[in-house]
Amino acid sequence: MDNRPICFFDSGIGGATILREVVKLLPNEGYIYYADSINNPYGEKSKEELFGIVDNVVKNLLEYNPKIIVCACNTATAMVLTDIRAKYPDIVFIGTEPAVKVVFDNYKDKKSIVLTTKGTGESEKFLELFHKYETDNCTLVPAPELANLIENNKDTSFYLSNLLKEYVGTEVVVLGCTHFPLVEDEIKNVLGDVLFVDGSIGIANRINSLIKKNNGHGFIKIISTDRDVEDRILNIIGK
Ligand code: DGL
Repeated sequence: MDNRPICFFDSGIGGATILREVVKLLPNEGYIYYADSINNPYGEKSKEELFGIVDNVVKNLLEYNPKIIVCACNTATAMVLTDIRAKYPDIVFIGTEPAVKVVFDNYKDKKSIVLTTKGTGESEKFLELFHKYETDNCTLVPAPELANLIENNKDTSFYLSNLLKEYVGTEVVVLGCTHFPLVEDEIKNVLGDVLFVDGSIGIANRINSLIKKNNGHGFIKIISTDRDVEDRILNIIGK
């Protein structure tokens, strides 16, 4: 048994789409969720700047003596998590990557797009993964600004309709940013009834297989670096 908390971080509310799957599977764990809204969007930062930002987040989370730190952000995983792991070799980190392998394994024949932030879409780590599982039917579609629109609770309809109108006919959409599951309805308004794929259930299963369990009562503590996003995060998790 291990009663230390599981810590999460993201550039705001998006990582809660991962947390909700983990809480469903492991309701008795203690969770610290660090919403770094003030630094949103991570996807528009340089690698050096983002390393400093994430290093600071990790230092804050280490105060809670976590048993594991979940980087609930595709962008931070793609751009800086390798270097963060090297700096903190004793800490167990779990990253988040766009679920391109799911398309390769199951939907090779379907017309697919992978939606990412600018940072993820241009990163060496992600492009290596994307090309490894590339299929003729799968197209990479970076969506700069989308994470920031979602974080700021802005209407995304106009943005999505401009970005996605040339992809009508798509059958599978990989949500390669943890903010993007929050606009599934708006994406459907442009593309119709597509199938969405993300990494959240895979991450929940991986955490379940890695940790020693807590025997206490579950709790969720939310820390935000900007305005109060606690209600939105609890709403995403369904609490
Ligand atoms: N949720 C983050 C991700 O998965 C958003 C990135 C951003 O802040 O640009 O990529």
